[in-house]
Amino acid sequence: MSESFRDTGEIRWLVCWSPYSPWADVQAVGDALAAACLAQLDRWQVGRRFADGSLPAPSIYGVPDVWPHVRAIYERAGFVHVGDTEVVLLARVDNLPRPGEPTVPGLAARRSVGINGTRFTAHLGERQIGYIEVESLADAERVGRLDRWADIGNLHVDEAYRRRGVATWLFGQVAEWLHLARVDRLLAYASPEAEAELALFSKLGFVELTRTARAWLAR
Ligand SMILES: CC(C)(COP(=O)(O)OP(=O)(O)OC[C@H]1O[C@@H](n2cnc3c(N)ncnc32)[C@H](O)[C@@H]1OP(=O)(O)O)[C@@H](O)C(=O)NCCC(=O)NCCS
Repeated sequence: MSESFRDTGEIRWLVCWSPYSPWADVQAVGDALAAACLAQLDRWQVGRRFADGSLPAPSIYGVPDVWPHVRAIYERAGFVHVGDTEVVLLARVDNLPRPGEPTVPGLAARRSVGINGTRFTAHLGERQIGYIEVESLADAERVGRLDRWADIGNLHVDEAYRRRGVATWLFGQVAEWLHLARVDRLLAYASPEAEAELALFSKLGFVELTRTARAWLAR
């Protein structure tokens, strides 16, 4: 176990009805649930207590901004947000560019097994100037309807070749591949500070689903 995970306990996820529901006491129920979880962590005598919203489904992690009631429960229980915020985006594969002529002369794509899914590498001769990885979510646990979804595992273009359409061209390769696999939705994740990535995703037709706050620590 890595150092950062030793002597820690975590509320992996906590869900409860939103305040719009017809029952008056939903917030009190959420608070009681959080208190019971903290009491369990106390019984286990863990040194640090974390909370998160990672449901067993892709793209749902951290505490998304569409769950203000869960955020409020965690805050009332004494948790503070100590980690990053991430932007979660979604595109229709149909709207992605189709593979066209490479924008950098001599560019060729090679497909191989990557770290997080299938990797498409942009080659200039033997030099690799960029890559993207894309992974099917068909085997994502417990969510049967995600067999036509995929997400981006990694994306990078060498600084010297940026703003020359290489990433856009790589997305064309990916779109063709996903079409073959009958995948029609593609998820992406980015930091709110990653201006280039967000600008690229926006140009490619991705829409923002949510911003999610990762890593909550009990005071
Ligand atoms: C994001 C990234 C992949 C873009 O690659 P790229 O090959 O330069 O992208 P493209 O040339 O295809 O850009 C397409 C469009 O995206 C937008 N865009 C890309 N980079 C941009 C930037 N720095 N600023 C503003 N817009 C940008 C533009 O609209 C651009 O079209 P235009 O050049 O006609 O204006 C590249 O900047 C990169 O690798 N960044 C680092 C990513 C990283 O480290 N990720 C780690 C987490 S996995």
